[in-house]
Amino acid sequence: MEPLYSVPENNGIIRWDKRFSVGIPVIDEQHKNLVNLTNELFLSCIKDTDSANDNFKKIVHKLVLYTKNHFSIEERIMETLNFPDIATHKKEHEAFIKQILQGVEDFSRSSRFVPNKFVRYLRDWILAHIAMTDKRYADYIVECKKRRGSGPAAGRMQKHDGAVPVKSA
Ligand SMILES: [Fe+2]
Repeated sequence: MEPLYSVPENNGIIRWDKRFSVGIPVIDEQHKNLVNLTNELFLSCIKDTDSANDNFKKIVHKLVLYTKNHFSIEERIMETLNFPDIATHKKEHEAFIKQILQGVEDFSRSSRFVPNKFVRYLRDWILAHIAMTDKRYADYIVECKKRRGSGPAAGRMQKHDGAVPVKSA
């Protein structure tokens, strides 16, 4: 069986693959941006200079804002569609934000912080979350679309078919 996602071992950079698509263009776009930010972060942390450290802080800050906004959009979609596994999904989001903030704290205290390990954690989490957890609500949306016209989610689907409002991070 083909793996759910592929992680290039050569340089730690994530490459977007169409298999990551959840079928909602605006969410795919945001996932691509998360991947890009993680790649930027990786590049900034493989150099150990003052400017690389400053850059690292700036990118982490951008990543936190962007991720929070992205998660709230996903959660709104799930709420609107009464997605049954929303509580579990939200918990994963919360745990991820907590881990990033812990990383930022460790970084500013220079304690226990290993940049490469941190970025690899982000990379693995993002890819696994998109390929497995986000895929579940994407499949649910496909189900809702099939039942469109007969279920309570049918009307609510209209406004989420790729037309999710996006705030800039
Ligand atoms: Fe998610």
